[in-house]
Amino acid sequence: MALKSIACIDDLRRLAHRKVPREFMDYYESGSYSEATLRANRDDLEKIRINQRILAGASDRDLSQTVLGQSQPLPLALGPVGLTGMAYRDGEIAAARAAQKAGIPYTLSTLSICSIEDVAAAVQKPFWFQLYFMKDRGFIADLIARARAANCSALVLTADLQVLGQRHRDVHNGMTVPPRIRLQTIAHVLSKPAWVAGVLLGKRKSFGNVEGRIPGTEHLSSYMAWINSQFDQALSWKDVGWVRERWPGKLIIKGILDVEDAREAARVGADAIVVSNHGGRQLDGAPSSISMLPRIADAVAAETEILFDGGIRSGQDVFRALALGAKACLLGRAYLYGVCAAGEEGAYTAIDIIASELDVTMALAGVRRIGDIGRSSLASGT
Ligand code: GLV
Repeated sequence: MALKSIACIDDLRRLAHRKVPREFMDYYESGSYSEATLRANRDDLEKIRINQRILAGASDRDLSQTVLGQSQPLPLALGPVGLTGMAYRDGEIAAARAAQKAGIPYTLSTLSICSIEDVAAAVQKPFWFQLYFMKDRGFIADLIARARAANCSALVLTADLQVLGQRHRDVHNGMTVPPRIRLQTIAHVLSKPAWVAGVLLGKRKSFGNVEGRIPGTEHLSSYMAWINSQFDQALSWKDVGWVRERWPGKLIIKGILDVEDAREAARVGADAIVVSNHGGRQLDGAPSSISMLPRIADAVAAETEILFDGGIRSGQDVFRALALGAKACLLGRAYLYGVCAAGEEGAYTAIDIIASELDVTMALAGVRRIGDIGRSSLASGT
């Protein structure tokens, strides 16, 4: 399937599975444990019905939105995705360039393959940097300083992954970074020659931000064992103050799924929060992101900006989240499939598909501006 015949994100997903070896697709697609929360994210979004309105004079639609004081043409950002550079050679640079072309923020994960400096050298516009808290405070202070030096325009503190929610398929596959090709995986890898040439024979194959900076990271037994040995499980709200002292710029706290946590995030001065359950990859059994969004937005939207992620695969999904109180949505797997399929062009295709679906949805729902999408845009009873 060529990129020009791609009609929707699911087409990109199918193409992604043809291009990237199963071990990495498993990592991207998995939820934790029974994957109940992963499924709930999609199921609950799809249940929401949009109000069809006619003869509303909905021409000249404007999809622009202001996020953290910056006007952007779409109410979207690319969220942080670990190991994007395993999907395609220099995948993080590809995604950052696609975001730049679309005029929306890109968020670089701490667990990226390309480093902060690699990405900064490849784009002109500032990007957001996502921070994971590791035990080595010196390393974290240094990461924050590197993000400042790279002119990152926001720091996204992910607060829902102090310990890894197990993804069974990663255990079965023995997932490691850099990839270790074993007898049982060799057939999958050899069936993806373009990936072998692009990624496996490329120069960047390990965590670019971390490599060589924390002792012990050279001999990873498994992805999960590594996270669980390096990440700081004692992290608490007072550590946000420690980050604040080192980061004077915009601060986003990601992983909020509870009203009290949202209030606390607003109290500690988060400029925005991301209502998120980490794409169903952490607390299995947690509610879907979309089911928690309205009450969190009602509680704190006056004090902090509400961003949303969790299951967005279409412009209709973006519309649903905006109607329930989000200012903008972070894409995760939706753009990652594009990176897997065709690097920068694939990521841009994903953004473009979602933007045009949102535009048509607004027309058919009789809405001309993003700010006019609200609860009345949904059919009553949803
Ligand atoms: C990292 O963010 C992961 O979900 O593996």
